Amino acid sequence: MSKHDIGLIGLAVMGQNLVLNMANHGFSVGVYNRTTATTDEFVGGLKNEPADKVYPGAAERIAGYHTPEEFVASLKSPRRVMIMVKAGAPVDAVIQQLKPLLAPGDIIIDGGNSDFRDTNRRHEEIKAANLRFIGTGVSGGEEGALKGPSIMPGGHHEAWPFVKDVFQTISAKVGPNNDIPCCDWVGDAGAGHYVKMIHNGIEYGDMQLICEAYFILKNVLGLTNDELYEVFKEWNEGELESYLIEITRDIFSVKEPDGSHLVDKILDTAQQKGTGKWMSQHALDLGVPTTLITEAVYARCLSAQKDGRVRASGLLKGIAETKFTGDKKQFIEDVRQALYASKLCSYAQGYVQLDAAAKEFGWNLNNGNIALLWRGGCIIRSRFLGDIKSAFDKNPTLENLLLDDFFRSAVEKAQPSWRRVIATSVQMGLPIPVFSAALSYFDGYRQARLPANLLQAQRDYFGAHTYERTDQPRGKMFHTDWIRERKQPS
Ligand code: 6PG
Repeated sequence: MSKHDIGLIGLAVMGQNLVLNMANHGFSVGVYNRTTATTDEFVGGLKNEPADKVYPGAAERIAGYHTPEEFVASLKSPRRVMIMVKAGAPVDAVIQQLKPLLAPGDIIIDGGNSDFRDTNRRHEEIKAANLRFIGTGVSGGEEGALKGPSIMPGGHHEAWPFVKDVFQTISAKVGPNNDIPCCDWVGDAGAGHYVKMIHNGIEYGDMQLICEAYFILKNVLGLTNDELYEVFKEWNEGELESYLIEITRDIFSVKEPDGSHLVDKILDTAQQKGTGKWMSQHALDLGVPTTLITEAVYARCLSAQKDGRVRASGLLKGIAETKFTGDKKQFIEDVRQALYASKLCSYAQGYVQLDAAAKEFGWNLNNGNIALLWRGGCIIRSRFLGDIKSAFDKNPTLENLLLDDFFRSAVEKAQPSWRRVIATSVQMGLPIPVFSAALSYFDGYRQARLPANLLQAQRDYFGAHTYERTDQPRGKMFHTDWIRERKQPS
């Protein structure tokens, strides 16, 4: 067999499906896995796969190798080696194994959910070894990897021309002719993995918002799963059309053999691999209020405290149960509007964090292009992202999505519904951390004056931390001896 176009290390399902996607599109792929049996099972099993998974001729374009040396020797120059292993130390281990086998200019690509800080570090290390590194987000799960993921590459810009063809060929496509790839160069060093982290954080926010909408409809209106199926089916035909709304609709249709709904049997304790948490941690480092996604992370944490919540449920009571007496159909529309407005606040926060990170790391990020990367293939793919791309196309330096004319009018239209849903839920003792964080962010961001004047006075009173004055130039600091100046206690 002639040398391969690209090599891939790490044959878990995501890796296997990316290999199939590449081979299905005509690329020749060499594969290696630390466990040889996995390599042999994958390559040996190709002939048994259906034609819609392994296209005719694709199997012949895939070859498995039992040693890193044979694997590397099988690749065309400059070699392109994609790593699809668990984030963290395993990635470093594979890089250390590859480095002595590669030639100057060869390219190592990390396609896992790596921490952008690791990618920043690896980028420098690999550049120092006269090699080139790409850290890329790959979103869309196992199905996306096979049928067309969203791919968010960043790192050594000289490497991009050598991987652009493969990645844009296998990525999801959008646009009127379904030919615009959801893959484009994001930026330097860890920028690709940073954008993937923001994607995952927004994913957490979207998922929690949908869960809170479900919780409200179920507890305020008493909707059944069949009614919830119809609600999400209808919502997915409008401005909330998205992969997550679509799968939520489907989840309400899955039944157990006895006819009961599976969703009611699933334990209410969320897990998390950590990418949403990383976004919240870095938001705090940047001093950026990414409140919705942080509340979404905490909602997962609180849900995981199941035993404690069960104990507390027997001890802590809300107010006397108030019953909803309004119009059911209108309230469902209210929840839809509240979900839309809250979702916008989440994306607005995500982009504010992207801008802050770009400034922090000197990355030149294109917010409109990032929306296009997310328009298809990834978990947060939605019609909504088309409107976000339009907003940034109109104004590439838009300070906050809430200030875009289209979105500003959408939120103003949604406000009455948004506030009714929050008020009703609070009155009925329902926890809606992300819905309420969204409204508080909106109400906080639009205030010219917040109560931080009192906070500055408190800090100066007990810590002499000084404060600025409204009637003096910014940056000029003042201190008051509050104990001397205060009304003396009688
Ligand atoms: C994607 C997903 C994926 C994510 C898993 C689990 O873009 O395909 O975001 O990368 O890791 O869905 O994520 P959590 O365990 O953090 O929910």
